[in-house]
Amino acid sequence: MTSCRICGGAVGELLDLGRQPSANRFLSPEEAPQEYLFRLAIGACDTCTMVQLMEDVPQEVRYHPAYRYLASGSALHRKFFAGEARRLLETELTGPDPFMVEIGCNDGVLLEHIAQAGVRHLGVEPAASVAALAEAKGVTVRNSFFDDVTAAEIRTGRGADVIYGANTVCHIAYQDALFRGVDTLLAPDGVFVMVEPYLGTIVHGMAFDQIYDEHVYYFTAHSVRAMARTFGFELVDVEDVPLHGGEIRYTLARPGRRPIRPAVADMLAREQSSGLIERDTLARFARAVAQIREDLVDLLRGLRAEGRTVVGYGAPGKTATVTTYCGIGPDLLPFTCDSTPAKQGLLVPGSHIPVLPPAEFDAARPDYALLFAWNHAEEIMAKEKAFRDRGGRWIRYVPRVRVD
Ligand code: SAM
Ligand code: TMP
Ligand code: ZN
Repeated sequence: MTSCRICGGAVGELLDLGRQPSANRFLSPEEAPQEYLFRLAIGACDTCTMVQLMEDVPQEVRYHPAYRYLASGSALHRKFFAGEARRLLETELTGPDPFMVEIGCNDGVLLEHIAQAGVRHLGVEPAASVAALAEAKGVTVRNSFFDDVTAAEIRTGRGADVIYGANTVCHIAYQDALFRGVDTLLAPDGVFVMVEPYLGTIVHGMAFDQIYDEHVYYFTAHSVRAMARTFGFELVDVEDVPLHGGEIRYTLARPGRRPIRPAVADMLAREQSSGLIERDTLARFARAVAQIREDLVDLLRGLRAEGRTVVGYGAPGKTATVTTYCGIGPDLLPFTCDSTPAKQGLLVPGSHIPVLPPAEFDAARPDYALLFAWNHAEEIMAKEKAFRDRGGRWIRYVPRVRVD
C-alpha cells in the first residue's frame, strides 16, 4: 500500500507494467548499460479515487536539459494550441494589461501566439532544450520547475488571468505545492485551465501505453473535482479534446467565482454509468492489457517466422511502455522511425530499439509497420500512403491488436 499523494488515503495497486525506464530518456548505445529503471505500476485511492503511480521517478531525471519531447511535433498539436490561444485571447485575456502563465510551455507551441498578440505572458519550463526553442519564437520563459516558491517570485499586480498547463499538471507529483503556487499567482477571477490525459481513454480505449513515468496521475472529472476541493478550488467546466487519443480540458476557478457548467455534472454521470471509477472495471482493464501483450508478441513472432519484415513507426514516450512491457527488442523490431531530429540515432528507453529518420522507413521497404504514434494515425497514414499502396500493412495494438 502507498498513501495517496492528494488525500493521504490508501492506494490499492491495479496494474504492474514491470521494470521500466524514464520514457523520454532516449539513450546513446554507451548510456544503455547504466539506464535508470523503476517499477512502473498504478493504483487507485480508496478515498478520493485518484489513479496514480505507485512509485515515481525524481523530476530532475524526467525533465533534464536534453528532454526530447517537442509539443510542435505534429500538425494536430500545432492547430489545437493555435486555437486555444485564439480562444483565450477572445475570452479571458481581454481586460487591461492581461497576463497569462503557462506551466510546461515546452517549445512554445501555445505561447508563441500569445506573444505575437503582444499579451504579457510567462512560460515556466524546466527543460533547457525546449525552453530555448520557445525563446527563439519570442516567448518569455523562466527555465525552472513551477511550484509555490516560483509562483511567489513571478507574481506581480493582481496576478495572472490565466494559468494554463497542457500535459503537464499530471506530471507534477507535488500537487499541494502546485496548487499553493496557483493560489499565490491567480487573479481573484482568473482561471486555471489544464488539458490532460484522461483515465477514460486509457481504460475504455485500452491506451495502456499512456502509463509511463511522466504521468504521475491519471485524471477523471471525479478525481479532479476532489483534488480541486482539497486545495481550495472548484472544477467549473470540462470539455473533450482530440489530443493523445482523447483528453479532457478542465477549468478550475476560486470557489463561487464562476458558474459551474452543466458539462461537469454530465461527465461525472458518464463516469459513474461507465464504471470508470470502480475497482472491477480497472481490474478488467489490467487483464485486457495482458491479453494485448500476448497477442502482439504472438503476431510479431509469427511474422518473423514467416520471414516478413516489421519495423516501428514513431517513437513517442508510449513506445517505451509497450515495448518494455511486451519484451519487444531489436530482435523482433530492428528499428522505429521518428520525425523528431533529437531522437534520431538514439535508442528507445528500456527496449533499446534504434530510432532512425523517416527516410529509413522508405529505404527499408518493410512488409509491416507497428504504429507507436497511433494518436497521429491519420496524419501519418496520409504521409505514408506509398507504403500502403505497395502492399505494406499497419499493425496497431490500441484498443486491441489488429492489422490493417
Ligand atoms: N504543454 C506541451 C504540450 O501539451 O504538448 C508540453 C507537454 S510535455 C509532455 C510536459 C512539459 O512539462 C515538459 O516540457 C516538461 O519539461 C514540463 N514540466 C514538467 N514538470 C514541470 C513543472 N513542475 N513545472 C513546469 N513545467 C514542468
Ligand atoms: P506524441 O504521441 O507524444 O505526440 O508523439 C508523437 C511522436 O511521433 C513524436 O515523436 C513525433 C512522431 N511523429 C512522426 O514521426 N511522424 C509524424 O508524422 C507525426 C505526426 C509524429
Ligand atoms: Zn486520495
